[in-house]
Parts: sequence; C-alpha cells; structure tokens
Amino acid sequence: VTRHAAAPLDSLPSPGLLRVEIDGRALCLARVESGEVYAIDDVCTHEQASLSEGFLLGCEVECPLHNSRFDLATGEVRGFPATEDTVAYETHVGEDGVVYVDFP
Ligand code: FES
Repeated sequence: VTRHAAAPLDSLPSPGLLRVEIDGRALCLARVESGEVYAIDDVCTHEQASLSEGFLLGCEVECPLHNSRFDLATGEVRGFPATEDTVAYETHVGEDGVVYVDFP
C-alpha cells in the first residue's frame, strides 16, 4: 500500500465532491453529511464522465451523464446503466488536515 496526499480537507465542500489527480489517476473525493471522506475513481465505468461533476446522494455518487450510481465505500454499482463496479480507496485524514488516499 502506498499513501498519497490528495487534498487539504478544507478544500472539500462539506458535503460535496472534488476531483483530484494523483500519479495520473483521477479520483473523486467525497465528503458526506457525517463528515466521512471517501475516494473512488473519477471516471464513470459507463462512458467516462467525471463523477466529481455529478451529485452526492447520501453515501452514493450519481453520474452527471446518465445517472448511474456508485457506492462510495465499496465502488459497487447501485444504479444503471453502468454495470461495472468502480474502485474505492481507503482514505485517512491526517492530523495535518490533509486527506490521504491509499493505493493498493
Ligand atoms: S457515463 Fe456515467 S452513467 Fe453514462
């Protein structure tokens, strides 16, 4: 596992979504109502829309293009038309106020 600094926590809307790039990989960070922070791949598994431009619904994100939904904690598809799960990453908020994402 490698831990990467993703963004300062206070740069995330609360609640809301933020696109970040780490090592050429685009991620969608999400801060939900409870304050919990999640990270999944930003590119929709359906037709490559940017999920961070979509909508946060509880602990799910809805794609802005055709409204597929993904579980932020697991990356699982929760609504069609996407059929392929996305990747969810472990996140960690450091004492330095930075959101870190673990790549496997
Ligand atoms: S591109 Fe996301 S649902 Fe089609």
